[in-house]
Amino acid sequence: MEYNFDKLIERANTASVKYDLRKQIFGHPDVLPMWVADMDFETPEFIRQAVIDRAQHPIYGYTFRPESYYESIINWLQKRHNWKVEKDWILFSPGVVPALNFAVLALTNPGDEIIVQPPVYFPFFSAVQENNRQLIYNQLIREGDQYQINFEQLEKQAQTARMLILCNPHNPVGRSWTRQELTELGKICLKHNLLVISDEIHADLVLPGHKHQVFAEVFPELSANIITMHAASKTFNLAGLASSSVIISDSALREQYKSFISRLHIEMGNLFGMVATQTALEKGEQWLGQVLDYIFDNIVYVTDFLADQLPKVKLIKPEATYMIWLDFSAFQLPDDELKSFLINEAKLGLNSGIDFGPGGEGFMRINVACPRSLLQQGLERMRDAFTQLSHGNDV
Ligand SMILES: Cc1ncc(COP(=O)(O)O)c(C=O)c1O
Repeated sequence: MEYNFDKLIERANTASVKYDLRKQIFGHPDVLPMWVADMDFETPEFIRQAVIDRAQHPIYGYTFRPESYYESIINWLQKRHNWKVEKDWILFSPGVVPALNFAVLALTNPGDEIIVQPPVYFPFFSAVQENNRQLIYNQLIREGDQYQINFEQLEKQAQTARMLILCNPHNPVGRSWTRQELTELGKICLKHNLLVISDEIHADLVLPGHKHQVFAEVFPELSANIITMHAASKTFNLAGLASSSVIISDSALREQYKSFISRLHIEMGNLFGMVATQTALEKGEQWLGQVLDYIFDNIVYVTDFLADQLPKVKLIKPEATYMIWLDFSAFQLPDDELKSFLINEAKLGLNSGIDFGPGGEGFMRINVACPRSLLQQGLERMRDAFTQLSHGNDV
């Protein structure tokens, strides 16, 4: 079956964060929203149908996750990522961001040092700071159009830190960390007994030419210290169903985490999230292959468009995720001016680079999981605004 990703779906008035909060977030209800990480593609029909089928049963009483739910996760991780997981290792969380916070609270103490590697998904910062832990930055190193982990600095920081929050693959710079990089990372963590949260929510969004590596699979020697987070939500556009998995193979670490979450009584989660996750993982491979090809073509489209029509904007070519990290530093605009220029002149709603911490200066993040016609519109708005800014010269 061929899926149609060119189809435009009206999302306004669906209580969509991306569309219906534009006035609150950007001050304009008419910016083209290319920010928060959900897709403008329809959630595949087989998932919608499974949710509708369940919704048609007239009672939505208390539910549990059946064996088949766990099997869908186990089979998916084995098949797609060569990672053998046992049922007992899999715990439910109503989202990865809540799980990051639970893990910080359950496994570290107030005042503990927790390392993050900016520019990175900003809820990592609040998971540390709002829980009264100390945020330690191991900023990624930019080498040309690529980002690398600063292993030397990490080695020093690991001497006193308790935990590292790893973004694997890395949002927003789009790195799909290699086995070699993760092995080097693992050695440092093992040497210094560092706990690692490996946020692998983008694991299934690795682009053609790259392969996702599960940190716990690459470096099993450290498995007593790794908490892996996975979800079908980014991959299949199910974020509103708030369902994800926390996977901990070590029984002592798992018990420590469980003893915290059992007090919160969140285990049941949402019936429809469970149905959608299971269906996605059981039936989603073909759709995923096609959506990744489409996203990849969108990235090529952005690359060609910028090279041709807006060469001062440089692009960091993503290896994973459907976000592109765009470098506007050639315009030498202060970050607040860059942001307001893109909102007010280009009428574009993007994520500001500085929100992702040190290293984000001069950057913006654009979400390209949308029909090509929308992407084209967004890029044309950007080009036209910058052309006006420089009066038609040197853009
Ligand atoms: C690295 C990363 N982790 C977590 C999330 C969000 O997770 P959830 O919606 O399950 O809380 C995102 C969303 O963009 C993300 O990029």
